[in-house]
Amino acid sequence: MLDVLIIGSGGAGLSAALSAKKNSSNVLVVSKTYPTHSQTVQAQGGINGVLYEADDSVETHINDTYKASYNLSKKENIEYLCKNAKDTILWLDSIGVPFNREENAHISQRKFGGTKQIRTCYSSDYTGLKIVHTLFDQCIKEEIEFKNEYFLLELIVENNICSGAVFIDIKSGNIEKILAKTTILATGGYAGIYSNNTTNSYSNNGDGIVAALKAGAKLSNMEFVQFHPTTLATNSILISESARGEGAYLVDENGNRFIDELSTRDEISKAIYEKNMKNEKVYLDFRHLGLEKINKLIPQERKLALEFSNVKIENELLEIKPSAHYTMGGISVDIDCQSSISNLFACGECADASIHGANRLGGNSLLEITVFGQKAGLNASDKAKNIVFDEVKFDINDSMNYISTIYDKENSTNLYLIKDNLSTNLFKNLGLFRDEEKIDEMIFLVEEIEKEFPKIGISDKSKVYNKNLIDYLELKNSIELSKIISLCAKQRKESRGSHYRSDYQMLDDNYSKSSFVEYKESQYTIGFEDLI
Ligand code: FUM
Repeated sequence: MLDVLIIGSGGAGLSAALSAKKNSSNVLVVSKTYPTHSQTVQAQGGINGVLYEADDSVETHINDTYKASYNLSKKENIEYLCKNAKDTILWLDSIGVPFNREENAHISQRKFGGTKQIRTCYSSDYTGLKIVHTLFDQCIKEEIEFKNEYFLLELIVENNICSGAVFIDIKSGNIEKILAKTTILATGGYAGIYSNNTTNSYSNNGDGIVAALKAGAKLSNMEFVQFHPTTLATNSILISESARGEGAYLVDENGNRFIDELSTRDEISKAIYEKNMKNEKVYLDFRHLGLEKINKLIPQERKLALEFSNVKIENELLEIKPSAHYTMGGISVDIDCQSSISNLFACGECADASIHGANRLGGNSLLEITVFGQKAGLNASDKAKNIVFDEVKFDINDSMNYISTIYDKENSTNLYLIKDNLSTNLFKNLGLFRDEEKIDEMIFLVEEIEKEFPKIGISDKSKVYNKNLIDYLELKNSIELSKIISLCAKQRKESRGSHYRSDYQMLDDNYSKSSFVEYKESQYTIGFEDLI
């Protein structure tokens, strides 16, 4: 019997796998894609941690994180994160993450937004990629088992106790039940549903979050979507915050700087988008940095600009715009990564561990996935040791019937056009600036799509590697999430961090609460609850 089933193989899932294995558990990692394909690689610029106390302190890191969350977080959880940063970064260093170093052998750090302290450790501008590759190497060394290209269909939950999950093996088309004493969701966020305006891969569309909701778990703060200020104007490819951390300027069409480049992401994104809405362009200016510094510290940004915008950043301005990058909301978990369903844990971007609140600081996501990933792995492993597993009589017929009804459906509406329309409208109506009218327009659109849904089917009827079927399943989840974001955004009648409402422009203390969503008897219940 499996002790710990981990769903998702990004930085959070791999960190969980390593700590559960180290705690002598029998572990399986199941992933929709492949370990090194995860969104973790998009956290390019670094990981935050106070390593050398000279001008900084853990207390300041805690306060910066809390302030950036606009008080929508739990200090205790932030304290755990920040106090464990140094050990976690040194552990990553010890297992082989190639951090840049200073002449005195200290790990190099750079400035990131929302703090004036130099606190972000980096591996040039490939930090997330190097971390996820190193974690995967360790998993191979520890002989951790993986099943790749498995799509999560449902969690096995009876009497509010989770005993594993049901998947479709994308390669064979077979439906498979995997039982486990404890399950960890590490499936990533949902910024991918803004597919025409996102730094995320299309597959990052909150499948784990929807499965948890449908199984009875509570979600929280789903209205908070972070827009990264600097993505390529033509295709939303991320240009890392490390660019500004290393001194690149943000300039308007007249070449004037208009904002402190190291303000928080919500502030900078809003300032840029205000200009974009007036048809004014905004640029990153790297020219004063010189090619040597660019090649040493931010080589990937140079390559991306050249390859995808045909711009040589050492000589030319690079046009940018904000795009959806990260989602602060997710499966509501306590400091032990425990969800509201027994034996179901969640960590990383799919979870809301009450840390980032209304706005996440750059560099804190890599920290969260590794610190809380390890914690989830250890806690799930400890819990598994006390579980005597009764054979669960969960049959997979419902999942099998569900998949066969999709094959049998008429296919008179093109799902790709629906997906395109949904994503375009998400950015328009639930993007950086929201108001009641736009939110209602989005709710209306989602309800129209729901009515249309019976006509959406798949044209590819093959069983093996049916990408069309996976696209269908992902679209279904995206529709669900679009509705949830809309409902949560509608009820939060204030502006706070990444949730900016043109019709309620001020932060209102009455809303210093977490929003929540639950799904019971085929209905959503939404509301607010105190953070204490
Ligand atoms: O811009 C970046 O390098 C992204 C970092 C992050 O999201 O933490």
